[in-house]
Amino acid sequence: LPLAMSILITNIKELIQVRDTNVTIVKGSDMKTLPVIKNAYLFIEHDTIVEYGSMDDYQDIDADEVIDATGKVVMPSWCDSHTHIVYAGNRVREFVDRINGLSYEEIANNGGGILNSAEKLQNTSEEELYQQSLKRLNEVIKLGTGTVEIKSGYGLTVDAELKMLRVIKRLKRESLAFIKPTLLGAHAVPKEYSNNKSAYVDLVVNELIPKATEEHLAEYIDVFCEKGYFDLDDTEKILKAGVAHGLKPKIHVNQFNAFGGVALGVKYDALSVDHLEEMNKEDIEALKNSNTMPVALPSCSYFLSIPYTPARQMIDAGLPLALATDYNPGSTPSGNMNFVVSTACIKMKMTPEEAINAATINGAYAMGLSNMYGSICRGKKANVIITKEIPNYQFIPYAFGENLIDEVIINGIRLD
Ligand code: NIG
Ligand code: FE
Repeated sequence: LPLAMSILITNIKELIQVRDTNVTIVKGSDMKTLPVIKNAYLFIEHDTIVEYGSMDDYQDIDADEVIDATGKVVMPSWCDSHTHIVYAGNRVREFVDRINGLSYEEIANNGGGILNSAEKLQNTSEEELYQQSLKRLNEVIKLGTGTVEIKSGYGLTVDAELKMLRVIKRLKRESLAFIKPTLLGAHAVPKEYSNNKSAYVDLVVNELIPKATEEHLAEYIDVFCEKGYFDLDDTEKILKAGVAHGLKPKIHVNQFNAFGGVALGVKYDALSVDHLEEMNKEDIEALKNSNTMPVALPSCSYFLSIPYTPARQMIDAGLPLALATDYNPGSTPSGNMNFVVSTACIKMKMTPEEAINAATINGAYAMGLSNMYGSICRGKKANVIITKEIPNYQFIPYAFGENLIDEVIINGIRLD
């Protein structure tokens, strides 16, 4: 990896998401506020944000490199708290099948979907899987993402799940992005267990979780809690086992059906509950006064043409909300957080301030990282985006589909 040094950024039009150390989550009406310093400077040493302020108060700083950010916005990198970027091949055939009239559910029932990706992954070497995944990770880093959660879940055998987790571990070691690993053994019921789902749940509980934690390959435990996948009983068994092995829950719930998955997640003190396209009153009530971050994945709603998470209702009820990509081959073949933020504004009626809070500080919270990432703060890691010249930060979601990023600094290193 290249050597970090000191970088001074001057004449910043708007330095956004500037917050005190003690702010690690933003909820409800507070999400409408995005703290900004106009005409600002920012000083980075090694991998750390050291100083910032108004150019009016600027006093000479000796830096290895100076970046003139006249007309540009500087902000913390995106924090993508939900991805499946380790996968083999693609599912472009299913994309075309859906255009021609099949539903996501029909495709899955015909042996496509997650099982299709599992078969591909089982037949791909660890090295090849790493290379394919690294390429995707490097692309999302260029799009401004600095911290990424990555799930297993396309292995669906003990060996293939461990292979995925080892690839995630290697990405964590060898990439500039900060990565958090999640064990999603219960992503779908493998073919061999189609008439014996409980035996697969037992395998996850009795073999996969112990092995993965013994090798320190995961920090979080995930389950696809959904009709036709894993029900509340299965989910509870797996969460219990995960928690007993020191894993914190972070689960897929309410993508197609609402039947109590949110409350179950809260009961096990989940760090996050994700998807939430289908939400009822009880789900919102369950999240109040909890430490669980609700996470919306608008690119998934966009790609599958399913409802968007009711962000307005949730934020107006005082809840926090995070935004993530869900980057995966089946429901969201895109890891572009800029698109996620635009789509949240356009389709979920989130304000630019709310969407940026959701994609930075709250995303960091949903990975247990908001003490180190997600805002411009002295002592936090130097992960920043420098935009092209734009009128103001609201332009970021407004100019949807356009790449407004001029430069990315990740871990104190200028990416070129
Ligand atoms: O988060 N919902 C479950 N898992 C993924 C999609 C999996 C796939 O289709 O490969 C998701 O959308
Ligand atoms: Fe997902």
